[in-house]
Amino acid sequence: MSMWLFITSLVITAFICNSPAYAYDNNPLQDICVAVNDSQASVFVNGKICKDPKLATPNDFFASGLNVRGNVAPGFGFYAKFVDVNNMPGLNTLGISIGRLDLEPLRFIPFHTHPRAAELITILEGTVLAGFLVPDPANFYRSRLFSKTLNPGDVFVFPQGLIHFQYNVGLKKAIFLATFNSQNPGIFMITSPNIASDLPILNDILAKGFQLNKTQIALLGKKFF
Ligand SMILES: *[C@@H]1O[C@H](CO)[C@@H](O)[C@H](O)[C@H]1NC(C)=O
Ligand SMILES: *[C@@H]1O[C@H](CO)[C@@H](O)[C@H](O)[C@H]1NC(C)=O
Repeated sequence: MSMWLFITSLVITAFICNSPAYAYDNNPLQDICVAVNDSQASVFVNGKICKDPKLATPNDFFASGLNVRGNVAPGFGFYAKFVDVNNMPGLNTLGISIGRLDLEPLRFIPFHTHPRAAELITILEGTVLAGFLVPDPANFYRSRLFSKTLNPGDVFVFPQGLIHFQYNVGLKKAIFLATFNSQNPGIFMITSPNIASDLPILNDILAKGFQLNKTQIALLGKKFF
């Protein structure tokens, strides 16, 4: 390859790698980058600094426990357990993580989004109604619902950032795995954080936001806490 061709392809590659579409969970620039587990040493941009590769061990790339359900979400009765860069440091810079969700019959994982990842779910047991909302470009006060009833072996994807839910509509418990194209997908619940925030959102603002009066806002708050 001529020097110029080499330089041109280098510049094009650098451009593609820096384009906004790749601005998170980049492809790794090294073979391994095991996260240092030290809050003082954290880089709060995306990812964590790398341990000296010579000090990496097989356990950095290992997690266990997805054979049992996780902790229960208070109020909603679903169980969640995640393996991400925070408990599996070898995931650092790899742009991938996984979780296990358990739902008793008629239990619901309410509307939420993952700001940094698409989520692919695979049903292991039970029947789950899953859906996500797509903003309607013709009227952004409305959305379109895309939903499916899923059975064992079925796979469904929630595009990155879109609001979604999972509902056990079957008669027995449901279990599914959720994989994310981020080492740290994040989670943002839609309903309760609108009511409970730190600092508190003024009742006036809540009333205007939900088009309710203050009595109704107080009732809504009590339903969540
Ligand atoms: C990281 O450190 C915290 C606090 O010392 C500890 O609770 C946690 O288990 C550690 N995580 C890993 C993956 O070692
Ligand atoms: C709030 O709205 C409810 C339902 O429309 C109504 O019954 C109630 O009187 C209203 N309260 C106030 C203080 O306006």
